[in-house]
Amino acid sequence: MAGTTVIAVSRLTKSYETAAGLFPALKGVDLTIHSGEYVAVMGPSGSGKSTFMNLLGCLDRATSGDYILDGRHVESLAPDELAALRGRTIGFVFQGFNLLPRMSLEDNVALPLVYAGIDLAARRQRAREMLERVGLGNYASSLPSRISGGQQQRVAIARALVNRPRLILADEPTGNLDSHTSEEIMALFGELNREGITIVLVTHEPDVAHHARRQVRFLDGVIVSDRPTGAAERPEALPC
Ligand SMILES: Nc1ncnc2c1ncn2[C@@H]1O[C@H](COP(=O)(O)OP(=O)(O)O)[C@@H](O)[C@H]1O
Ligand SMILES: [Mg+2]
Repeated sequence: MAGTTVIAVSRLTKSYETAAGLFPALKGVDLTIHSGEYVAVMGPSGSGKSTFMNLLGCLDRATSGDYILDGRHVESLAPDELAALRGRTIGFVFQGFNLLPRMSLEDNVALPLVYAGIDLAARRQRAREMLERVGLGNYASSLPSRISGGQQQRVAIARALVNRPRLILADEPTGNLDSHTSEEIMALFGELNREGITIVLVTHEPDVAHHARRQVRFLDGVIVSDRPTGAAERPEALPC
């Protein structure tokens, strides 16, 4: 299904300032992702995957290059415009779940709606719907510590969905989960993608990446392969 362009990145670089000088974590990345795609970002530790996801999620700014998110030039936006674009377009899921420990699951899920200025009754209703969506409707008033890691990740996914984003960015969402629980979480991502949500998911596990329909591989801050799942790996630089 060829959809509209959600992400268009060109010549993107990111260098970190370190005590030893500038460290180039991304060295010129080009990538286009269309609406409805399901992309796994792979590559060894330190290859730049999280740096790239943080730029896609507008959590950090690139050193140079262009990023067009949902038709808007990210570099040209004022901070409040960028926050608004991010809030309505993107849902984030992290490896560590990042739930607030003293808040109920319902309040955790509703949190992005507070920032979006939605009133309390509507927030409650939407948060409950999302908890039901991920199979945790009965736990709305529980604290995160009362549920398992897999359930906590479901809550984090519910929180990511609560603003009805068209894009989910997930950085190693199964990194802290056993393989059975990982499969359940991946089944949920698969359902969301079939409902039309674009998914970009970092993993270094081939079993997890297999759920995606496209696999992009990073090495030393550049993309070294980009292929449909199931296709033989072929380095970008080599002729056919
Ligand atoms: N805030 C930072 N300051 C300095 N170096 C960083 C910072 N974040 C990441 N790096 C370095 O950038 C490289 C890429 O990191 P990262 O994007 O986290 O890789 P990955 O997610 O693929 O493991 C690594 O060498 C890492 O040490
Ligand atoms: Mg990482």
